[in-house]
Amino acid sequence: MTAVMYPSLYLQRHSLAENAIRVLRNQDSSPEQFRGAILRLTTLLTLDATRDLPLKQVEIQTPLTSTLAGMLDCRVGIVPILRAGLSMVDPLLSMLPEAEVWHLGYYRDEETLKPVTYYDKLPPNAPVDVAYVLDPMLATGGSACAALENLKKWGVKEIHFLGILAAPEGVKKVAEAFPDVALHICALDEKLNEQGYIVPGLGDAGDRAFNAAAV
Ligand code: PRP
Ligand code: URA
Repeated sequence: MTAVMYPSLYLQRHSLAENAIRVLRNQDSSPEQFRGAILRLTTLLTLDATRDLPLKQVEIQTPLTSTLAGMLDCRVGIVPILRAGLSMVDPLLSMLPEAEVWHLGYYRDEETLKPVTYYDKLPPNAPVDVAYVLDPMLATGGSACAALENLKKWGVKEIHFLGILAAPEGVKKVAEAFPDVALHICALDEKLNEQGYIVPGLGDAGDRAFNAAAV
């Protein structure tokens, strides 16, 4: 499938991103190296995706005088999709220490490639103002769409998806179903293979991050 650009797609352009993606793609990288590269890439994505968070001006006292200073003025939710999305949580939490973390658990059925829900405990009301959905892999887009549907149902008004690698198929599915959701991605790959893996890709992100490849 040819990659199409959508107005909601923000592709990370940074030499440090390319350097870290090389580590992720390399099958010889250790789980520690893999997690380190995910952390660095998520830090770059976070800086971009949080640039315009709303602020209010509050009066504070410096050692010299009083002045107005910006203070974040919104409730933020970090929403990792289990398992692989867990590897992206720390950079967001370190920059948004007041944020709430709401986990969603999906695994892909190997035959149908459709997401199967195994953990979903979003509260019925009082949605966060801004949500950041975390998943390193956007393949068919099924898992991302399931998460986004859930967050919309909760009533979240501003949603960002932060991913490391995406296939054109997944970008198309999410961008067309949720045009108001910003997609922040580090690299847009060539295609999906018959098993639904991103090519050239990096393999199974959850297994590689958590050293859990089948033996
Ligand atoms: C991977 C990945 C995404 C999903 C992407 O998870 O982390 O959640 O596949 O594929 P999709 O776009 O086709 O839905 P997986 O289901 O392998 O679970 P895991 O994170 O526990 O390994
Ligand atoms: N999930 C992964 O972990 N890797 C892929 O390439 C596709 C889905």
